[in-house]
Amino acid sequence: MADIIEARGLTVKYGDKTAVDGIDLRVHRGEIFGFLGPNGAGKTTTVKVLTTIRRPTAGNIVLDGRPLTGNLSAVRSEIGLVQQHIVLDKDISVRENLYCHAMLHKIPRSEIKQRTDDICAAVELTPYLDSLVNNLSGGWKRKAAIACALLHKPKVLFLDEPTAGLDTQSRHMLWELIRVLNRRGTTIFLTTHYMDEAESLCDRVSVISKGKIADTGTPRELCEHLGRTAVEYDGPNGREYRYFRHWDEGKAFYESLGSENAVLRGTHLEDVYLEETGRENAALLKKVLRI
Ligand SMILES: Nc1ncnc2c1ncn2[C@@H]1O[C@H](COP(=O)(O)OP(=O)(O)OP(=O)(O)O)[C@@H](O)[C@H]1O
Ligand SMILES: [Mg+2]
Repeated sequence: MADIIEARGLTVKYGDKTAVDGIDLRVHRGEIFGFLGPNGAGKTTTVKVLTTIRRPTAGNIVLDGRPLTGNLSAVRSEIGLVQQHIVLDKDISVRENLYCHAMLHKIPRSEIKQRTDDICAAVELTPYLDSLVNNLSGGWKRKAAIACALLHKPKVLFLDEPTAGLDTQSRHMLWELIRVLNRRGTTIFLTTHYMDEAESLCDRVSVISKGKIADTGTPRELCEHLGRTAVEYDGPNGREYRYFRHWDEGKAFYESLGSENAVLRGTHLEDVYLEETGRENAALLKKVLRI
């Protein structure tokens, strides 16, 4: 079956600034797809155009076989979105927020109660249904936002940095929920800059850097593209990294260094991410500290 999202040559400009620069994306039906990139890379902008909130400056998007042009109401019914900054009304209860979303999606009044009960049972939110959103912890607020985004039974759920700022327990709670939703058939598109999140959850990922796609594949494929074996060591410019296709090559290089501080190890997704998006922060720190 065709991919659920196909985007070609996607470009988004804000005035003179190009936030997304001619990217191609394919998301397979039924997968958890990770969109990884540092602050300002273009993740939220891409999510906005894929979810019809913003029109691209150029490029084509087809979602579940429907081009994102002209009348968007049919395609919008296939999309659920949890934005980076939660947009729930904090002064009313979870149930009342769900009701507002049901109205927005024109869900028949006779179905709202059943849908609310079903979705809250699925995301295990029932005990908090009548709590004010303001009184919920960060993790439960995210769950409430996910429940709202699922009320109209979308085929694709977009989660823009779903676990940013949450504690470890809440992150794991949300990861488990994302897995359950995916097993029940929802395609997940999630943005993150946490590599453990991508490694633990995602079937495939794309890395975006400065508006361009740097690489796409399974986390394992991305490590293989760089070289499966990593050697890190102290060089003249600080910590340095080299990658090798084969363990033996890496081991020979490691041994040639004869250094106590050198490390021979497997390549992580974090290495791929840092090589593709830059280790500028480390370089900047060294400059500031004059080391
Ligand atoms: N409404 C806007 N007007 C002008 N520039 C914008 C606007 N929204 C985003 N940008 C710029 O576009 C670029 C991409 O922003 P975007 O929010 O898509 O990045 P991001 O990858 O989601 O970052 P973060 O991890 O911080 O959420 C950034 O340089 C940002 O400053
Ligand atoms: Mg963002």
